[in-house]
Amino acid sequence: MQERKRVSPWMIIAIAALIALLVAAVFVGRNVRTLNAEVQWAKSLTPTPIPAYDANVMQVTPDPNAPTPAPVIRTGSQGESVWALQERLQALGYYTGTVDGQFGPATQAAVILFQQQHDLDADGIVGTATSEMLYSDQAHMVIVTPSPTPAPTLAREAGKYANGMPMLVNRENLLPDSYEPVDLVNMSDYCDDAIVTIKGSEILGERVAVDALMTMLQAAHQQDITVWQVSAGYRTIEYQQKLFDEQVYAYRQQGFSGSQARSATRKTVADPGASEHHLGLAFDITVPGVSFKFTEQAQWLAEHCWEYGFILRYTEEKEAVTGYVAEPWHFRYVGVEHSIPMRDQGLCLEEYLEQYGNLT
Ligand code: DAL
Ligand code: ZN
Repeated sequence: MQERKRVSPWMIIAIAALIALLVAAVFVGRNVRTLNAEVQWAKSLTPTPIPAYDANVMQVTPDPNAPTPAPVIRTGSQGESVWALQERLQALGYYTGTVDGQFGPATQAAVILFQQQHDLDADGIVGTATSEMLYSDQAHMVIVTPSPTPAPTLAREAGKYANGMPMLVNRENLLPDSYEPVDLVNMSDYCDDAIVTIKGSEILGERVAVDALMTMLQAAHQQDITVWQVSAGYRTIEYQQKLFDEQVYAYRQQGFSGSQARSATRKTVADPGASEHHLGLAFDITVPGVSFKFTEQAQWLAEHCWEYGFILRYTEEKEAVTGYVAEPWHFRYVGVEHSIPMRDQGLCLEEYLEQYGNLT
C-alpha cells in the first residue's frame, strides 16, 4: 500500500499566511483606491481661488470689432480734427473765428454755445455725445438770441445780475457804494510780468477777469504782439471821487468855470458810483510811453478781445449811447456767452441789455 504523503504543519501555516496576506492586500488596495477617489471628489468641491481685483489689469478682453471711440477734442487740441470741428461749427454759425486747427478760447466758446443749444453738458469739450450731435441731423443752426445763464445758487457771479446778464454801470445805473467784488487779486503778484507790466503796485481785478485777460495777452504774445501794460483795474468809490476831482481841478486850472470843468470831466471820467471799474472787471490796457490808439496792440485787441470774453466798451460809433468819448484802451469782461453775440450783432452793452436783458 502506497504510503500517503504527510503534509507538514509548517506547510499549512505557510499556505494560511499566504492566503491571509493576499486577502489583506486586496482589502488595503481597495481602500487606497477609494481614498484616492474621495480626495479627487473633495478637490473638485474646493473652489479655485479667484485672483484679487487689480484695477490696473484689464478685466475684459477688448472686442477687436468694436468701433474706436472718437478722440476727445478740447482746449489745447490741434490738427485735422480741430479743423473739421471749426469748419462744422462755422457752417452752423457757432464759430466766427479763423479756421486754423487750434482749439483756443473762441473754439471753446463756440462749442459751449452749440452744447447749450442742444441740451448737452456745456463743458466746452467735444466728447462722444457732442461729436455725435454735431454730425447728426439734429444739429441746428445757431440761435442768435442769447439765453441768460440761470441765476447762480452757490456763489454770486462777478458783475452779473441774478439772471446772468452783465451788470450795467453808467450814469443812469450807479453801482451802490457797498458793492464788493467777489474775489479780487493783486495783479502785480498774480500776473506773469513776462506777459504784462502792471503799472504801479496796487492794481486789483476780479480773478475771473484777470484769468481771461492773461489768456488773451498770452494768445497775443503767441502772435508776436508782445508789449502790454495794465494801467487801471478795480477802483473804489473814493478813488473814483479822487480821479473826478483831479480832472475838474485840471480844467479849472485851464480857466474853465466850475460847471464847464465838471461837464468836460464827465466826457472822460465817470461820476463816482458810475464807473464800471468798480466791478473789478474793467481794465485800461496800454503800451508804455505811446498813445495807445494807433498801436498794433489796440488793433489786435479791438479784433480779438471778444474771443476771450471782453468787450471794447466805449467806441466812437457808440459815443451817443455810452455818453463817453471813445476809449480804445478800456476793456470790460462780460464772458464769451455775451461778448460773442455783442460783437456779432454790433451792440454796445446798453443796447445789448435793452434788447435781451432786464436790469435785475
Ligand atoms: N473812463 C471810464 C468811463 C471810467 O471812468 O470808468
Ligand atoms: Zn477805464
